[in-house]
Amino acid sequence: MNNLVIAIDGYSSCGKSTTAKAVASFLHYAYLDTGAMYRGVTLYLLENGIAFDDMVRIEAALREDIHISFRRNRRSGRNELCLNDKIREDDIRQMRISNAVSEVSVIPMVRHAMVAQQQRLGRKRGVVMDGRDIGTTVFPDAEVKIFMTADVEVRARRRQEELAAKGEHVPLTDIMENLRKRDHIDSTRAESPLRRAADAVLLDTTHITITEQVDFVLDRVSAAL
Ligand code: C5P
Repeated sequence: MNNLVIAIDGYSSCGKSTTAKAVASFLHYAYLDTGAMYRGVTLYLLENGIAFDDMVRIEAALREDIHISFRRNRRSGRNELCLNDKIREDDIRQMRISNAVSEVSVIPMVRHAMVAQQQRLGRKRGVVMDGRDIGTTVFPDAEVKIFMTADVEVRARRRQEELAAKGEHVPLTDIMENLRKRDHIDSTRAESPLRRAADAVLLDTTHITITEQVDFVLDRVSAAL
């Protein structure tokens, strides 16, 4: 049983994607950043002036105009998000998208479209997915389920460093507010809210390094094989 699904869910900026990428690379598995997909939809709606409560236009856009995919950057080896075949990786990471994405990801028809695509992309298994509802909704039968959490200030500092490395300098208080707001909306929405699956293992990353996070997940993978 080599082709597992590894679900890494949890709060914003806990190190989910860094851990998931490293685990995928170690196992030679595919990696899917499901948050990037919701960010891509948000970017499209903002750029096209579509209000988040305009269900008619959102439905039409999802059906006909929004095409989300990933392309591997040969130089960095990273998967980059493409919106309608154009790489938009840097744009989706900006604060303006972080500030709006949770309002878009509560919309049931957006979730249905993204979940269906995620299930298609993972159907062959052998994949590490990070997000909010992977272990509960996208792949409830995932063999390994991790639920990540960390102190909000520690998370905000890490996020601040990531943004600064890309030239976006944001006060710590703004980032903390964004993380708290997203966690709240993500955890309280009606459709597939962020919650720990009954069979997910809790991983608190407040005081541990990336290497320790990766080792923790790989230990769970060994136990599942
Ligand atoms: O993982 P990331 O922080 O990039 O996700 C951005 C947002 O996308 C989350 O705050 C959440 O609102 C939404 N999301 C979601 N379900 C997922 C992944 C992300 O609702 N599986």
